[in-house]
Amino acid sequence: MILVAGGTGTLGTRLVRLLSDRGMEVRVLTRDPARAAHLPRTVQILTGDLREPAAVAAAVRGCSTVVSAVHGFVGPGKPSPESIDRDANLALIQAAATAGVEHLVLVSGFGVAADHPMSLYRAKFAAEQALRASGLRWTIIRPTSYLETWIGVTGAKLADNGQALVFGPGRNPINFVAAEDVAVAIDLAIHDQSLRGQSLDVAGPENLTFTQIADQLIAASGRPGRTRHIPLPMLRAMSVLARPAAPSFARQAHAAVMMNTADMTVDVSAIRDRLPTVPATTLHDLLTRQPSPEVPPADARPPRRRESQRPGRLPRGAEQRHRHGRRRCSAR
Ligand SMILES: NC(=O)c1ccc[n+]([C@@H]2O[C@H](COP(=O)([O-])OP(=O)(O)OC[C@H]3O[C@@H](n4cnc5c(N)ncnc54)[C@H](OP(=O)(O)O)[C@@H]3O)[C@@H](O)[C@H]2O)c1
Repeated sequence: MILVAGGTGTLGTRLVRLLSDRGMEVRVLTRDPARAAHLPRTVQILTGDLREPAAVAAAVRGCSTVVSAVHGFVGPGKPSPESIDRDANLALIQAAATAGVEHLVLVSGFGVAADHPMSLYRAKFAAEQALRASGLRWTIIRPTSYLETWIGVTGAKLADNGQALVFGPGRNPINFVAAEDVAVAIDLAIHDQSLRGQSLDVAGPENLTFTQIADQLIAASGRPGRTRHIPLPMLRAMSVLARPAAPSFARQAHAAVMMNTADMTVDVSAIRDRLPTVPATTLHDLLTRQPSPEVPPADARPPRRRESQRPGRLPRGAEQRHRHGRRRCSAR
């Protein structure tokens, strides 16, 4: 049995499908089983919150492999990087070691460090350190930003009002990787023994600006459109002023400032040499192919009725849902 904590998310959904298609037994931990309705019906759904010790213990019970693909950067339930990316991951690692789990795969981030300017990347680094010291067999996956996530953010309103949304000037090149390729890298990490004890950077083939993403999204929509920019000074101000009342909003503003000002490019050639079988999906590939598995937005309760009305998603076709015959259990 493989536990995928975060199996309802953008990356998790793709990983769960990959593992299920291979005939693996998969368990997904979610705080809200409605968020797992789109997953294959063979998947075992466990309701619980990683911040609750009983849920963590129940989640890892009987598992040979555990994948942590969670984060507390944004989302429902007052998350924070410290409570999820650091503390909940530490609890998961501890519980997995106690339960005799064979291998834990931690999804971290590209460039995490103890002194990183973003709290998310400091929290992920702390979890990495704990995993290395845990005595478990481990693999750490360090991806760059996900194309699918930013297609969702940039194109959220495109179908409704013809506007793509860009935070700041959007002229800074950033490495983006397709979450579906990250899922392939994790699948490899699970099945290839030589990747135990390795920290693997996973980057995509393109360094793109937000403006380039917006332009490609508008072109793919087949209709005239324009790009709306949130001014950088406003983002800088929000990253400080919103901290007390809306910390998640402040974190997003800070991330947007970083993505406009820091060097976010990656020379992908060395990385690709290490994982040569992982596909190199481009933005163009994603925009011109058949619809990929849809993920409900994190704050949608219950899931919305019409795909085309989902915030953060382009109307790329109907999702195939599997609502019947699901095994469900609760850790509460
Ligand atoms: N998106 C990116 O650009 C990016 C880049 C680099 C690394 N990453 C990393 O990749 C991983 C997946 O990211 P993503 O963007 O695919 O995530 P996502 O779509 O935002 O989904 C987040 C997942 O975390 C789960 N989660 C959050 N808090 C939880 C809690 N307290 N208990 C149980 N589950 C909880 C959510 O489950 P429920 O809501 O169903 O409970 C959901 O499945 C994360 O580790 C993230 O830090 C992401």
